[in-house]
Amino acid sequence: MNDEQLQRFLDIATECALAGGVILEQQWGKLNTIEEKGRPGDLVTDVDKTSETEILKVLKRHFPEHGILAEESGHLGEADNPYLWAIDPLDGTTNYAHGYPVACVSVGLLIENVPQVGVVYNPFRKELFRAAKGKGATLNRRPIQVSTTQQLSSSLLVTGFAYDRRETPDNNYREFCYLTHLTQGVRRSGSAALDLTDVACGRVDGYWERGIKAWDMTAGIVILEEAGGQVTAYDESPLVIESGRILATNGQIHNRLSKALHEASSWLPW
Ligand code: IPD
Ligand code: CA
Ligand code: CA
Ligand code: CA
Repeated sequence: MNDEQLQRFLDIATECALAGGVILEQQWGKLNTIEEKGRPGDLVTDVDKTSETEILKVLKRHFPEHGILAEESGHLGEADNPYLWAIDPLDGTTNYAHGYPVACVSVGLLIENVPQVGVVYNPFRKELFRAAKGKGATLNRRPIQVSTTQQLSSSLLVTGFAYDRRETPDNNYREFCYLTHLTQGVRRSGSAALDLTDVACGRVDGYWERGIKAWDMTAGIVILEEAGGQVTAYDESPLVIESGRILATNGQIHNRLSKALHEASSWLPW
């Protein structure tokens, strides 16, 4: 991959994220439809769909030959295409549907299954996070770095809960309580992509979650790694995107957080 190509992918990813962001902004407070996708609480609105339509228009215009995995449209294009765009047109749908202004658009590019380009745009804060592999990460064009926190006891973390949490004992409740006990706090923003970018720019020190998808994490992974962070599976083995489990930190607390997630399964606070 030469620099020029990578830059072009980053530029188009930015165009996509901003196109989706315009929809999120314009339609704020004017939702037409809110539906459940199957599970209780798993919402989709007309804004998720319109944002995705606008993003796909941009992508198809520039890269008609690439594969796309978009939350609301599924997989488009040849299954074995080495270029796969992972698109979340509205990450934070529950927040958005309730009028809680924490949401973003996430546009990532996997090449041969490796996240290489990522753009996350939060229109509420006018924050544009961008990164391409080997080129560093920026927030509104300024370089960003992860925090330097070294101890769990002085860390602030963030996590999330998947829509299947009512149906599975693997619901993250125990991990959430145990880490709340060990740290200065655990937040739940409602947007996995913003959780990753918040680790990337040092607002929080670590993030973990199970049950998230390629469209939630691809862009954020590139941004976090390029900001000096570490991304693995819970047990520190290499991340497998399809597993839906991610441990993402500033690097300094990675091992301690991994151990704590393991200990959580046998922790009995009550
Ligand atoms: C959700 C958010 C949330 C996470 C869920 C995701 P959506 O995405 O990222 O933070 O906990 O697992 O599905 O549905 O708002 O795009
Ligand atoms: Ca999402
Ligand atoms: Ca979404
Ligand atoms: Ca969703």
